[in-house]
Amino acid sequence: MSKYIVRKAERLCGAVKISGSKNSALPIIAASMLAEGETVLYNVPRLTDIENMCGIIRCLGGSCQWSNDELHISFRKPKTYIAPYELVTKFRASFLLIAPMLIRVGKVQIPLPGGCPIGARPIDLHLKGFTALGAKITQGHGFIEAKARKLCGTRIYLDFPSVGATENIMIASVMAEGETVIENAATEPEISDLADFLVKMGGKIQGAGTDRIVIEGVSRLKAVSHKIIPDRIEAGTYLTAGVMCRSDITVEDVIPEHIKPVMAKFSEMGIEVFENENSVRIISPSKFRHTDIKTLPFPGFPTDMQSQFTALMSVAEGTSLIVETVFENRFLHIPELSRMGAKIKVDGRTAIVDGTKTLTGAKVKASDLRGGASLVLAGLVAEGETEIDCIEHIERGYENFGEKLRSLGADIIKIQ
Ligand code: EPZ
Repeated sequence: MSKYIVRKAERLCGAVKISGSKNSALPIIAASMLAEGETVLYNVPRLTDIENMCGIIRCLGGSCQWSNDELHISFRKPKTYIAPYELVTKFRASFLLIAPMLIRVGKVQIPLPGGCPIGARPIDLHLKGFTALGAKITQGHGFIEAKARKLCGTRIYLDFPSVGATENIMIASVMAEGETVIENAATEPEISDLADFLVKMGGKIQGAGTDRIVIEGVSRLKAVSHKIIPDRIEAGTYLTAGVMCRSDITVEDVIPEHIKPVMAKFSEMGIEVFENENSVRIISPSKFRHTDIKTLPFPGFPTDMQSQFTALMSVAEGTSLIVETVFENRFLHIPELSRMGAKIKVDGRTAIVDGTKTLTGAKVKASDLRGGASLVLAGLVAEGETEIDCIEHIERGYENFGEKLRSLGADIIKIQ
């Protein structure tokens, strides 16, 4: 197990380049399995989830090769319909392979992805979509088997605007027969990036980015090259670190539109926010007001920024209310923040955070990706030294996390 040792940072300063979005690259890698030929993806972050997705594709008979910073993917001759248990159960997004396998092979057997620390993570909406498109789904012994001779377009209403279900249904319907309409679809930027990629390949998709997406099935998709959009959550995480350390920092290679909900919160707190074409700068005063957070599907405040903001509110002036409406168990970082002196009470999906002047360094443990990041941020302002264990969770979603924070002046080292 690796650990981070973080010591209080006087001030951060400078600029950090944001990597490509993990949550955009994963569905696009899955979708590239539909292409005839070799897909080339740029700006793909080097993360364990990405490597595991590539590993699964190789097991299924495809090839994924890095050439410098380009990821080359081809899936010419599938060799099995059974997805490897060891890799699939390491991360949730492996479930996005069902759609391309249904189209290319007509059959797939995949272990149930299982829950994760932040919630049960059911897949009922994904299965509802596949069934509506004509797939036959059987479950048993911890596996899902999906079969379909062909997929036929249909109308699907999502009970919840699930990101993964929207992506899976989009990929499954892009080569289905006829028209598919997805209603109450997720509108996250990653959905639009996936749609842009599929349209570039020859897909016919209207309405991505809105809650109603219309897909007209086509018979073939060609291999293309595509640059993955920047990671809005990584950008929000570094900006939050800058605010916590009362600093002046800039995140570069971002799409400001994608981090508007986070920037709006900074402005409410009295933080100066400067937006340029592909960078955002914050200048944080020594004292900043608290604010209240309620996580919602895009364009609401992102659940993936909730943990980082809980750490931020624990050193803000005043009392904040944080309501997590998307996942049922996404406060696992709070007991760890409390060990560092944060004053937080949890009642169901609501956390009441009493801003305190100082936090103190402690031994803490990351339990999930964003919760782990919030502990690092708290360590940047805590008196003394903070040791964060189980950082493999963090490194699933943040490329070169320690290096990037050090480039801003943070005192963070990684030990095995
Ligand atoms: C994606 O997960 C992201 N992961 C998550 O990021 C992100 O937190 C989430 O979207 C919400 O924005 C990837 O893109 C790889 P959902 P996903 O389906 O697709 C319920 C991170 O930190 N639901 O939108 O799994 C579900 O229980 C990760 O990078 C069903 O009920 O999220 C949850 O309460 C964490 N049935 C809510 O919807 C379903 O079939 C949101 O889930 C599917 C979901």
